[in-house]
Amino acid sequence: MKLWGGRFAGKRDPLFEKFSESFSLDQRLILYDLRVNIAYVQELGRAGVLLRREASGIAKGLEAITRYVRSHPRWAEKETAEDVHSWVEGRLEKEIGVLARKLRTGRSRNDLVATETRLYAKDAIRALQKSAVEALESLLEQARCNRDVILPGFTHLQPAQPILFSHYLLAYAEMLLRDVSRLEDCYKRTDELPMGAGALAGTSYPIDRVRLGRDLGFSRVAQNSLDATSDRDFVCELLFACSLMLTHLSRLSEDFIIYSTPAFGYLDLDDAYATGSSLMPQKKNADTLELIRGKSARMLGKLTSMMAVLKGLPLGYDRDLQEDKHALFDGLDTALESLILAGRVIRTIRIHPEKMKQATALGFLTATEVADALVGRGVPFGQAHEQVGKLVKYCVDRNTTFSEITMEEARTLIPLWDKKLQEVAVSAGLSLRKKNVAGGTAPQRVSRQLVNMEQAISQLKKNLRLLPRGNRNRS
Ligand code: ARG
Repeated sequence: MKLWGGRFAGKRDPLFEKFSESFSLDQRLILYDLRVNIAYVQELGRAGVLLRREASGIAKGLEAITRYVRSHPRWAEKETAEDVHSWVEGRLEKEIGVLARKLRTGRSRNDLVATETRLYAKDAIRALQKSAVEALESLLEQARCNRDVILPGFTHLQPAQPILFSHYLLAYAEMLLRDVSRLEDCYKRTDELPMGAGALAGTSYPIDRVRLGRDLGFSRVAQNSLDATSDRDFVCELLFACSLMLTHLSRLSEDFIIYSTPAFGYLDLDDAYATGSSLMPQKKNADTLELIRGKSARMLGKLTSMMAVLKGLPLGYDRDLQEDKHALFDGLDTALESLILAGRVIRTIRIHPEKMKQATALGFLTATEVADALVGRGVPFGQAHEQVGKLVKYCVDRNTTFSEITMEEARTLIPLWDKKLQEVAVSAGLSLRKKNVAGGTAPQRVSRQLVNMEQAISQLKKNLRLLPRGNRNRS
């Protein structure tokens, strides 16, 4: 069934039919399509555009289709249509006869598809936020359980300074927290009703868009019909929010992949999230994380393709916009699955504090602290830096560490060297405790971060209504 046959005499090239159909993809909007149509036809009834009995007859037909679709998960299997909107109208006509043709009075697929896509995106944002909260809780749980574990901190992937493993995990929690808030911003701009915008100019029928918007759970109505039918900013924003989130997860994946190699040995993935080799019996590969890293590239591709679709489009709906669903659906699926799995991987890692500690001792991570201690004794920092650098070189040349050199050896390069400096040089814990600044890695500061993060997460859960009823008023 075509919604636009009258103007045409000839048939479409079958390849073009296949090329242009979107039913295979937008069938996942079916329940949104039915919901928007039901609300719209009821509004037509209230506004007196349709007789009450016509409106309720159409609504009943749409409700019957809704029940059918809900109880037949494979409803679309043998169906064909140009798009989901055409399918619904065709099916409605089978259900209630020609009355079905009154459904699209005053509305276009342009305002319809924009409305449905926004509803879909709103639900997807909530699902993403919920899973992000779960991943945040996994990070928090690991941070709590391993509060005092020391990890070599890296810059340039070279050993830099000791940090707490919990501090490290909380860095990723900060990123995810920003991701959730970015999704929230995106939600606000998505939460706007296009219906009533018609094909581009608005509708000639006296419908109340505010009332219709309220029925469909929108906070506002779109202010400009031309914009409302051709705007896909919300798709771009959502894909960007997902892309950046997956970029964060990709960085975490990369860290964990490195940390789980025998050369590092800081942590192990649970067997549930690793695979082996068909050839090398000893292998345990971090495929989950590699795939998250890989899929973050695909996610970025979806964002790029959506941005490219919009660039240069003449204003008003253009069929190019149909490509939004390829980008959106695949992007959202990829983001959600990656996020859920990342949360599970984090929750189930086994860490090896001893390995982390050994690595801290080997990498001269206290060197800055030694220089700072010299500064405390009046040596200008530049000079202290030079002296400690020489001592490091001395140790590297002899394949030794700060803890193994003698007092005399050290004094040839650092004249002020004594027991106290030696102590500073061998104690990662001392170095940590010195980073006693807001946001620093000193244990008391990390405890503060933990508390703040706990509060932020429980606030999120309250906002997203993820807490059981009784707990909603407690923070
Ligand atoms: N399948 C189309 C889409 O997803 C629906 C809107 C088509 N509108 C039109 N005038 N051809 O964008």
